[in-house]
Amino acid sequence: MTKILSAVAWPYANGPRHLGHVAGFGVPSDVFSRYMRMAGHDVLMVSGSDEHGTPILVLADKEGVTPQEFVDRNHAVIANELADLGCSYDLYTRTTTANHEHVVQEMFSRCLDNGYFVVQQQLVALEPSTGRTLPDRYIEGTCPICGYEEARGDQCDNCGNQLEPSDLENPRSKVTGATPEFTETDHYFLDLPALADALRSWLEGREASGTWRPNVIKFSLNILDDIRPRAMTRDIDWGIPLPGELAERYPGKRLYVWFDAVIGYLSASIEWARRIGDDDRWRDWWNSEDARSYYFMGKDNITFHSQIWPAELLAYAGRGAKGGEPGTFGELQLPTEVVSSEYLTMEGKQFSTSRNYVIGIREVLERYGPDPIRYFICAAGPENADSNFTWAEFVQRNNSELVAGWGNLVNRTGAMIAKNFGEIPQPGTLEPVDEAVRAATLAAFDMVGDLLARQRVKAAVAEAMRAVGDVNKYVSDTEPFKLKGDDQRERLATVLHTLIQCVSDLNTILAPFLPHASNRVHAFLGGEGEFSPMPVVEEVSGLDEDSDRTYPVITGEYSSTPRWESRPVTVGAPIAKPTGVFAKLDESVVEEELERLQQS
Ligand code: MF3
Ligand code: ZN
Repeated sequence: MTKILSAVAWPYANGPRHLGHVAGFGVPSDVFSRYMRMAGHDVLMVSGSDEHGTPILVLADKEGVTPQEFVDRNHAVIANELADLGCSYDLYTRTTTANHEHVVQEMFSRCLDNGYFVVQQQLVALEPSTGRTLPDRYIEGTCPICGYEEARGDQCDNCGNQLEPSDLENPRSKVTGATPEFTETDHYFLDLPALADALRSWLEGREASGTWRPNVIKFSLNILDDIRPRAMTRDIDWGIPLPGELAERYPGKRLYVWFDAVIGYLSASIEWARRIGDDDRWRDWWNSEDARSYYFMGKDNITFHSQIWPAELLAYAGRGAKGGEPGTFGELQLPTEVVSSEYLTMEGKQFSTSRNYVIGIREVLERYGPDPIRYFICAAGPENADSNFTWAEFVQRNNSELVAGWGNLVNRTGAMIAKNFGEIPQPGTLEPVDEAVRAATLAAFDMVGDLLARQRVKAAVAEAMRAVGDVNKYVSDTEPFKLKGDDQRERLATVLHTLIQCVSDLNTILAPFLPHASNRVHAFLGGEGEFSPMPVVEEVSGLDEDSDRTYPVITGEYSSTPRWESRPVTVGAPIAKPTGVFAKLDESVVEEELERLQQS
C-alpha cells in the first residue's frame, strides 16, 4: 500500500465550469483516484478553487461586487458541480482561506531566507489622479507589433503577443482614460537559474522513469534551456500579502496568483489533516520518499507544475545552487508524475466563455446525469491528443455503448434470472465456454488496472468495454433464452450464474469510470449501501482568523471503497427485474443541443 497524492489542478473561481474544464483533468483524476483506492492504496485527493489574480479582480469590478463576493459565489457553484459529477476529493477547498495564506507565506519566507528571491526593478504604471498602480490588464494602447489599437498591457488579443504595459503606444488607463505614468518599482523574482541544475537533474530522473507522457517531458526539459528569474509579486490589492514586515514595506503588492495557487496542493493537504484532527497526517504524503504524487492538468499548466512548483519546493528545501535549509514543513517531495492532457473542442471549435460557446457542467448533469458525460470524456477525451466533443458522438456512444452494450447486459441478465429463478441460481458443472468467459473477465481486472495505474484512462475504458463485449458474446453463444424444459434447467442455472458473476465483476471494473451506475447495478445485485462512495459538499468554518466565516468544501469518506477483485455472487440472493441502468437518448437531442449552441 502506497501513499498516493492525487493533486488536481485548481479551477479559477471565475464562473461555472464547462465541459472543456473537466475533460482534461477533472474526470481523469477522479477515475485514477477511485482506481488507486480500489487497488488498496492510501489516496489523498486534493484541489480547490483558484481565487486570486487579475482576471478575477477585473470580472468582479465589472459586476460591481467585491472580489471576495465574486469568488464566494463561484466557489460554491464549482464545488457543487464537481461533487455532482462524482469527483471524490478528500478535500476541495479554496485559496482565500487563512490556512492557505499561512502556508503560502511560510513557503515564501523560507525561499527568501534561503536566498532564492532576487529583487529587481520593473516599470509599473500609475493612475495619475490617484497615484495607485494600474494592473497590466487595466492599461490599453496600440500594439507595437501589429498596430491593433485596443491591445492590453499584458497581451495583444489581435496578434496574441505577450506585452509589457510600457511597450504600448499611446497607453491609457481603462478606468479613467488618462495616460498612465510609469515609475520603477521593486519586485521579488524567483531565482530560477539558481534552481536550474536541481530542476534538470530531477527532470532527467523523471525522463529515465519513462512514465511521463512524451510531450510533457519534452516540453518540460525544453523550457529549462531559456530559464530566467520570474516575478512572483504583482502591484495589485487582491491576493496574498507578503509576509511580516514586507507587507508594511510593500502595501500595494501581493504574491503572484500562480505562486500561491500551486502551493494549494500542500495547504489543502494540511487543511485536510487539521480537519480530521490529526494535524501532521499530511506529512505521510509529502515528507516520505515512498509516497507518490500525481498532478493532473491541462497542457497550458505544464510550466507551472514541472518548473515553477518544483522550483518552489527545491528553493524551500535549500536544494538549489545557493544552498539553504528546509523550514517547518521539512523536505517536501517533488511531483512523481505531471499528467497533462491536451485540449477539447466542441463541434470543431474552441470553447469560449466570453462568446458563450460552452456547455456548462450543470446543464449536462441536469439533462443527462453524470455517468454518460464521464463516459464520453474517458472514451473520447483529450488524453494524448486534442479531441472534439460532438453531440452526435455523445448520443451515439451513450446509446450503443452504455445502453445497448453494458446496460443491456445487466438488464437481460437480471430479467432472465428474475423470470426463471427469482434468485441467483446454484450452478452445475462449468463447460469450457463458461470457463472461457470467466477467464476473460478475470483477466480484465489486470489489464484495466494496469492501464489505470498508468493514467491511461482511454485505453482502460476501451479494455473494460471489450470485456463487456466478450460477455455479451457469451450470451449469444450460449443462448440461455432458448434453454427450456426440465432437462435444460441445470444448464440454464449454470449459464445465468456465470453471467451474473461476470456482470458483478464488470461492475467492479467499470466503477472508477461510472461510479453512479455502479451503485445502481450493485443495488440490483442485492448489495447494500454504496458500492462507489460519493463525495459530499459540507459547509465548514475557517480554521484560523477566518473562523467566523463558513464556506462549502467537497469531502468524503471513501474507506469503504471495494477492492479491485472479483467478489463471488451469493447463490439464493433475490433478483428482481432491473430498471434501466442507463437511459437511451432520442436522436432529437443532437438537434436540440446544436440549436441551443447557436442561440448562445
Ligand atoms: N487556475 C489554473 C487554471 O485554471 C490552474 C491552477 S492549478 C494550481 O489554469 F495548482 F496552480 F492551482
Ligand atoms: Zn498585436
